[in-house]
Amino acid sequence: MKVNVQVQDVVAYPGDALIVNLFDGVRKPGGATRAVDEALGGLISRVIAQREFQGKAGSSVLLHTQGKLRAERVLVIGLGKQEEFGLESVRAVSGEALRVLRRHGCRRVGTILHGTGVGGLGVEETAQAITEGALLGLYTFDRYKKKEEDRKAVQELSLLLREREQMAKVRTFAATGQVIADAVNLARDLVNEPSNSLTPQDLAARARTMAKEQKLTCQILERRQLERMRMGALLAVAQGSSRSPVLLVLSYQGRRGKQPTLGLVGKGITFDSGGISIKPSEGMEQMKGDMAGGAAVIAAMGAIARLKPAINVTAIVPACENLPSGSALKPGDVVRSMDGKTIEVVNTDAEGRLILADALCYARKLGCHRLVDAATLTGACVVALGSVRSGAFTNNQEWMGRVQSAAEAVGEKIWHMPMDGDYDEQIKSDVADIRNIGGRKAGAITAAKFLARFVGEIPWVHLDIAGTSQADKEKGYTPKGATGVPVRTLIRLALDLAQSGGKPLR
Ligand code: BES
Ligand code: MN
Ligand code: ZN
Repeated sequence: MKVNVQVQDVVAYPGDALIVNLFDGVRKPGGATRAVDEALGGLISRVIAQREFQGKAGSSVLLHTQGKLRAERVLVIGLGKQEEFGLESVRAVSGEALRVLRRHGCRRVGTILHGTGVGGLGVEETAQAITEGALLGLYTFDRYKKKEEDRKAVQELSLLLREREQMAKVRTFAATGQVIADAVNLARDLVNEPSNSLTPQDLAARARTMAKEQKLTCQILERRQLERMRMGALLAVAQGSSRSPVLLVLSYQGRRGKQPTLGLVGKGITFDSGGISIKPSEGMEQMKGDMAGGAAVIAAMGAIARLKPAINVTAIVPACENLPSGSALKPGDVVRSMDGKTIEVVNTDAEGRLILADALCYARKLGCHRLVDAATLTGACVVALGSVRSGAFTNNQEWMGRVQSAAEAVGEKIWHMPMDGDYDEQIKSDVADIRNIGGRKAGAITAAKFLARFVGEIPWVHLDIAGTSQADKEKGYTPKGATGVPVRTLIRLALDLAQSGGKPLR
């Protein structure tokens, strides 16, 4: 879908549908909605008076204009309660609205800028939020479905402005929204792709193609190099599969010379069967998405390259399959990570932390000054936070604050989890420096504690996205399936850091 910006009187907008809005409980529409209501001879007011539509968040009513407006239809969408309204509501209603209109076969759609009147939002940010919400909400993964002749798609979304002076800025913000949504949808594509067509090598190829397009430096380390660098933990997880592992390294240089670097690390297990500690078959198909963290950092790098913040960023993605076989890693095995630590592998299904151990060591070796990792790491995190919030863990409160404000700004919910020293006891091993599981209690925390051992003193935040990377039902701008979390947080973080001159990175 193409997004464009035009100065246009809503009553004269000529497309298949025009989107206007209403706050919850408002009986008499104002602003652009009022203009439309008047042109329709008070039809909207009448529907409200009949209590068929009250402006509840995400609800909507579709009306035919019968030639009273140039647009064939008007969709009035509910913005919810005015006290709860914000950019996140704009993204959500935009996604919902476009899905409704797609169902009705609309191809050309115009929208007013929700909330820029009494809602008090800025025109530019709102234009970006509408663009993001629309492109994210319309996402589908249908490359393996038969192409139906009448598959419906919205072709064009027009953001309708009142004043010409706003045009240039609004265009820029809409374009930013497009870049961000493209990145999220790329991550979704990678997560939704089955593991037979997204092997570690395929993931590397996709990253390389993207890097070439966006002029990022891309390095793909193959088995030989991983052996030379003594990445024993990553190699151990990979050894049960006939598909060889890779370590992807993408770099973006937004500042000259040796400047502080933000490191983004993402778990890239293209399929997690559990290995010898095999998982139950029910739900195992979801484990094609066990590279969601890796997909997110790759996709975020693409957007960062396009938005060009003045900051240096390096993404690191260890990728392999976790499978059982005659050559697979076994419970009780002791492996050695890049920094020389020995790890007792008690459960081969706790593989994410193993491959991340080596990736985090590598990030340290590359000299990253700040780290964020994203990983579908633990079922325990799903138990704790469900699919609403990602778990967030840190060794540095100030850095956590930065990540939290980035997440908050883009509407990707996270929750700061504890990391008391007391939890370390659970990952002590009798035979090695550390063991890879911490028992039944506090599984998400002990996993984070394990990772912490490999980051040293570098300020680091770990995002456990096991519960948030895939959605089991559509909602707002998130269709069912891969969500693309936390791509937007990572992009925002890079932009925020560049804004503050990269200073806190010193
Ligand atoms: N990839 C899984 C975690 C996961 C679970 C992601 C559910 C998405 C949805 C991870 O590799 C795993 O298997 N973790 C184990 C760890 C345990 C053996 C300590 C788990 O959570 O069961
Ligand atoms: Mn696992
Ligand atoms: Zn896993």
